[in-house]
Amino acid sequence: MTTRSLTEDIVLMANTGKIIGVNSNLLRASFEKPVVQNEVAFAVLENGTRLKSEVIRIRGSVAELQVFEDTTGLKEGDSIEFTGALLSVELGPGLLTQVFDGLQNPLPQLAEQCGFFLQRGKYLEALPRDKKWAFTPSVTVGTQLSAGDALGSVPEGIFKHLIMVPFGLQGTYSVESISAGNYTVTDTVAKIKDSNGKSYDVKLMQTWPVKIPIKCYAERLRPTEPLITKQRIVDTFFPVNRGGVFCVPGPFGAGKTVLQQLTARHAEVDIVIIAACGERAGEVVETLKEFPEQIDPRTGRSLMERTLIICNTSSMPVAAREASVYTGVTLAEYYRQMGLNVLLLADSTSRWAQALREMSGRLEEIPGEEAFPAYLESVIASFYERGGIVRLKNGATGSVTIGGNVSPAGGNFEEPVTQATLKVVGAFHGLSRERSDQRRFPAIHPLDSWSKYRGLIDSAKTSEVHGILSRGNDVGQMMKVVGEEGTSMDDFVLYLKGEFLDAVYLQQDAYNKIDEACPGDRQEYVFNKIYQILKTQVTFKEKDTARSFFLKLTQTAKDWNRVEFKSKEFQELESNILKAVAEVTVNA
Ligand SMILES: Nc1ncnc2c1ncn2[C@@H]1O[C@H](COP(=O)(O)OP(=O)(O)OP(=O)(O)O)[C@@H](O)[C@H]1O
Ligand SMILES: [Mg+2]
Repeated sequence: MTTRSLTEDIVLMANTGKIIGVNSNLLRASFEKPVVQNEVAFAVLENGTRLKSEVIRIRGSVAELQVFEDTTGLKEGDSIEFTGALLSVELGPGLLTQVFDGLQNPLPQLAEQCGFFLQRGKYLEALPRDKKWAFTPSVTVGTQLSAGDALGSVPEGIFKHLIMVPFGLQGTYSVESISAGNYTVTDTVAKIKDSNGKSYDVKLMQTWPVKIPIKCYAERLRPTEPLITKQRIVDTFFPVNRGGVFCVPGPFGAGKTVLQQLTARHAEVDIVIIAACGERAGEVVETLKEFPEQIDPRTGRSLMERTLIICNTSSMPVAAREASVYTGVTLAEYYRQMGLNVLLLADSTSRWAQALREMSGRLEEIPGEEAFPAYLESVIASFYERGGIVRLKNGATGSVTIGGNVSPAGGNFEEPVTQATLKVVGAFHGLSRERSDQRRFPAIHPLDSWSKYRGLIDSAKTSEVHGILSRGNDVGQMMKVVGEEGTSMDDFVLYLKGEFLDAVYLQQDAYNKIDEACPGDRQEYVFNKIYQILKTQVTFKEKDTARSFFLKLTQTAKDWNRVEFKSKEFQELESNILKAVAEVTVNA
C-alpha cells in the first residue's frame, strides 16, 4: 500500500531544460531528468521574468509546452524550470467571493499591483496567507480517517467550510493531534499518521491538480432531483437536475450571457462558480460590478458570498482559457466534497475549444472536423463527466451541476463543439436567433430544446401543453401560406392559445423584479391555471374577436406575472382572467 501523496511523488523530479523552439505560445524544450504530462514549468526570459507553462506533449527527449502568457522575447536557448508539480489549484477557506483568472491568480489584487494592464509573469497566491480562520475540530485523537473525511471546520461567510484529509492521501490514517484555534491557511491544524507510523501535517489549505477529478466519495448517484433555476421554460419544460449537465448553445447575441447570469443569481444551489472564458472584458467587468450589489434572495446577503468567478477575457492569452474551465470544475468538486450543491456555469465553451484548436494546429496534429483536434469529443465529454451528484463517505450528498454555453459560428448547431456537447449533456436549451430578434426572452426554442431530466411538474401535463404549442406553431406556419381566411376557427384558436402560452409562460421579463425569477411553487400554481385555460374549449364568432380576446388576456396574465405571488392584486388579476375565459367557454 502506498501512502505517498500525488504531488509528493512528482516533486522529487523538478529539473531544468532549454528552449529549442518557440512558435507563438507553444514551446519545444529539451530536458535532463524525466518530466510528466501536465507538469507546470516556467520559461525564463533574459530579464528573469518567469512565464507559467504546462507540458502538453512529450516526444522522446522533447517536451512541448503551452505558455499561459504572451511569449514575446522568449528565444531558443532560454531556460525552462520544470517544477515537478502538476497544474494545481489551492483549496481552502477564502475562495468564495474571489475573482480569479484561469490560473487562480486573484484578479483584483493582481490589478492593484500591476495596474489595469496586467504584467506578464506576475503570479499571486490564491488564498490570503495572513487571514486567520477559527478552526473547530470534529474528530478526536485516535479517530480513523481517509482522504476527503472531515477533521473539523472553519466558518467561511455563510458556510461551514470543512477541513478534510488531503485528497491525494491513500489508505487510512489516525489522528495524532488536533486542536481548536485561529490559524492561517498554511498553519498545521492536525497531525495524522499512516499505518506505518509516518506523520502528515494537515493544514487548512491543500492543493489539487486541476485535470484530475476529486473522487473521495462513496458512490455516484443518478441525478433525479429538480434544480430550480426560476426560469419557467427551463424548470417546467426542459428541467435540469442537481448533478446534471446541460448546455445552452446560441448564436451571437441571442442572450446566452444574460440567461446565464439570471441562472447564477436565482438557481437554488449553495454555491455558484462562473467560469467566464474568452468573453469580452466589458461583459466580465459588468458581472464583477453587478454581483456584489445583488442580494441573494435566499440569504438576504450579498450574492458574492456564495459566488466564485473565474475569468479569462478575450484579451487574455488563449491557453489560459483551457486552464479556467478545469480550475472552475476543480473548485466545484471541492465544495461538493463538503456536501454542498454547486452550480458551475461556463461561458463560452466554444472559446475554450478554439484554444484547443489553436494549440492542436501548432502541435501539427492530424486535424478532425473543422480543424478541431480529433480528440475534441473526448475532451468535452471528460469535462462534463466531472458533473454529478455523489454520496459522500459520511452519507451526505453533494452535487456539481454543469451548464455550458456554446457559441457556434453563425448559430449553426451542426458544428463539432455543439455536436460533441449534445452527446454528453442531459438537457439542451437551444437559443434561437428568430426568438431573440422577436425579443421573446429567454430565447430558448421551445420546439428544438429537450431534457432527459425530471421536472417539477407532471410530465404528462407538460407534454400535453407542449403539444398545443407545437400544433399551434404548425397552424401559424400554415397561416403564412394560406392566410387567416383559409384557416378554420378551431385552428385559429389553437394558434392563439400557443401564442398565449408563449407570451405569458415561456417568456419572462428579465428586467422586472418579480417576473425575472419565478419560484417553484408559483410555477406549479400558474402552470395549472394556464393548463386549465388551454384545455378549455372557447368559441368566437369572428377571428378578430378571438384575436382581441387573447390579446387582452395576454396583457392581464403578464400583469399577473409581475405582481407578488398570492397578493391581493395577484388574486384579483387571477379572477379577472378566469372570468374572462368563462365568458367565452363553450356551453358556459
Ligand atoms: N432575458 C432577456 N431579457 C431581455 N433582454 C435580453 C435577455 N437576454 C438577452 N437580452 C438582450 O440581448 C442582448 C444580448 O444578450 P447576451 O449578451 O446575453 O447574448 P450572448 O448570446 O451572450 O452574445 P455573445 O454571443 O455575443 O456572447 C442583451 O444585451 C439584451 O439586450
Ligand atoms: Mg455572451
